[in-house]
Amino acid sequence: MTDKLAYSRHGDIAVLRIQNPPVNALSQSVRQGLAEAMDRAEAEDGVRAVLIVGDGRAFIAGADITEFGKPPMEPNLPDLCTRIEASPLLVVASMHGVSLGGGLEVALGCHYRVAQPTARVGLPEVHLGILPGAGGTQRLPRVTGAQAAVEAITTGRHIKAPEALELGIIDKIEEGDPQDVGIHYTRALLDGGAQPRPVSQMPNPEGIDWDATYDAVLKKGRGQISPATAVRAIQAASELPFDQGIKRERELFMELMNTDQRKGLIHAFFNERAVSNLPELKGVDPRQLKSIGVIGGGTMGAGIATAALLSGLGVVLIEMREEAVEAAKGRISGNLQGALKRGKISQDQFDTLTTQTLKVSTGYDSLADVDLVVEAVFEEMSVKKEVFAKLDAACKPGCVLATNTSYLDVNEIAAATSRPADVIGLHFFSPAHVMKLLEVVVADKTAPDVVATGFALGKMLGKISVKAGVCDGFIGNRILATYRAAAGHMVLDGASPFQIDKALVDFGFAMGPFAVADLAGLDIGWATRKRKAATRHPDERVPTYIDRLCEQGHFGQKTGKGYYIYEKGKRGGTPNPEIDRLIEAEQQELGITPRDFTDEEIVRRYMCAMVNEAAKVVGEGIAARPLDVDMTLLFGYGFPRYWGGPMKWADIQGLDAVLADIQTYAKEDAWFWEPAPLLKQLVAEGRTFDDLNKGNAK
Ligand code: CAA
Repeated sequence: MTDKLAYSRHGDIAVLRIQNPPVNALSQSVRQGLAEAMDRAEAEDGVRAVLIVGDGRAFIAGADITEFGKPPMEPNLPDLCTRIEASPLLVVASMHGVSLGGGLEVALGCHYRVAQPTARVGLPEVHLGILPGAGGTQRLPRVTGAQAAVEAITTGRHIKAPEALELGIIDKIEEGDPQDVGIHYTRALLDGGAQPRPVSQMPNPEGIDWDATYDAVLKKGRGQISPATAVRAIQAASELPFDQGIKRERELFMELMNTDQRKGLIHAFFNERAVSNLPELKGVDPRQLKSIGVIGGGTMGAGIATAALLSGLGVVLIEMREEAVEAAKGRISGNLQGALKRGKISQDQFDTLTTQTLKVSTGYDSLADVDLVVEAVFEEMSVKKEVFAKLDAACKPGCVLATNTSYLDVNEIAAATSRPADVIGLHFFSPAHVMKLLEVVVADKTAPDVVATGFALGKMLGKISVKAGVCDGFIGNRILATYRAAAGHMVLDGASPFQIDKALVDFGFAMGPFAVADLAGLDIGWATRKRKAATRHPDERVPTYIDRLCEQGHFGQKTGKGYYIYEKGKRGGTPNPEIDRLIEAEQQELGITPRDFTDEEIVRRYMCAMVNEAAKVVGEGIAARPLDVDMTLLFGYGFPRYWGGPMKWADIQGLDAVLADIQTYAKEDAWFWEPAPLLKQLVAEGRTFDDLNKGNAK
């Protein structure tokens, strides 16, 4: 027997205890241990039942994801589930913590299931680009019915024990030590004369409108194929005998296993965990974090304050004038109302947070006791310096002083204080209580425990924190500026903004760049163009047609008109016909003859621009690893998760092909398409971006 499974006897019950920390993933040795223990229980005299339990914090969190993509090792999971189910002994699962994916499939292979009241079950495989491949698509619908199984499998959501009981996934809820509860339940079943009850022998679930369901799920997946493919597997459960259904499930599972989407989604799974795991912070303790200060109560400051309040931190918010104090309170309370409505906090908590935990003041002296301050005032160096000089005077020694700047030089801001080691950038994304990304910007003199405190804050707020170096735009906005520029060039050369938006939404982005510009406000880009005009490189191509619209006071969604026209009460907009005329006028002025672009070329140029700039960002050390770029784009910029991030996308395309395209585009515009040295180096060495993730990417 392997060391991952402990076998013990409790009278006529054999207990199989899985011991594979941290979450009892079903690695080869666990599967082998279970198979051998079943053989032993069946061979031993006097055994009438088998109880399967998990050690530690979970029953089983699923297949071992690190084994994906490697040659399969016996015994495979589907056979193991069938083997457990076919046992002449009564087999019971006692579930606690999570039972996910293969974990729930093992439980469904058992004849009865008992769970703790806090247990959660689910089949989340679609989020990894696959479908439940060990009988889950065949057994779950036999216990829940087809409709409920479609909902559970295509969303992959965690189902809490009471709902699981209602759906028939578990048979009983009982609180206590999982092994004691399991033995007690198994004994009662034996005493009541219960016999093995294989789910595979239950009747096929009734059919639903499979084609309509498939189409609806495909549409909702925005290009992700695993949920829709899972619908076809559940259909097989309804239409075919169990054995044939299992075969169909296996075929569809193997199809998905071989997709790029599976690779991208698994890259995302591991790297959203690896990204905050910095080798240089091992053993560095963060500073204490009980309360924070926020300077500025606009949309950003109010969002940061909301996130902090919701995570249990005390908040002192500073505004300049009494009217602004009231407006800030209103914004925060509006955000918290949302949390109240969604059931995230109770009315009592809402009242305490708004009247006691949150303090709003006009005086910096109120910041004397806070552990960290985030400044979210106007993006102007002189304003930031003034604020930091005041913070330096008001805050206690050891207080972390953070700026939420999106592009300004954090070193220069730190120099405005007498304690640059305590200064850091914490770049939140708006709305800050919703968006998952936090860029932790480390300046030249930032102390390691201040960096650790930035990451600790990110964790408390439930963010994905990424370490970034100082440069214009850090990781995300710097790369964004480049791929936005590529989109602008394509417009000048003949692709319409509407075609570009559509091509990129079809690629999987939540929104196209021009719809995003309308949402963010066209005045922002307009101001940036004016700010950068004086220092712009002479070869840089910058379209200015949209400035005509800004000059007339049209700034996108907030004014009702931008690239699109927005009608009150309607979601989304319709293309603004003026845009085509403005573009034509600029093309004539510049002497450009517009040409046609295919959607494929649009995506390729956009992505190549993104990857090339990202390679420069990694090459310069602004991002420590390619995975940091991938997670930044995934969690802050709506990049489709199933591609894993731009660097993973480039690896999948082949870096030599990406570089070749960049070199072709460089023939038209050598300045913009200057290949990143790191990209050239990797191609020359035959390596990938993933190779640079130093064992973090699997
Ligand atoms: N395989 C391998 N490692 C896993 C794992 C799995 N299924 N699930 C979690 N881990 C690892 C994590 O990578 C992490 O490792 P590090 O500490 O080295 O970073 C560690 O276990 C703890 O995980 P979390 O940090 O995520 O801990 P958590 O308490 O926040 O969450 C969890 C625990 C809910 C189980 C979460 O990890 C999770 O959702 N895991 C994935 C579950 C899943 O998708 N299962 C289905 C697998 S596919 C399958 O089963 C296919 C099939 O049918 C053949």
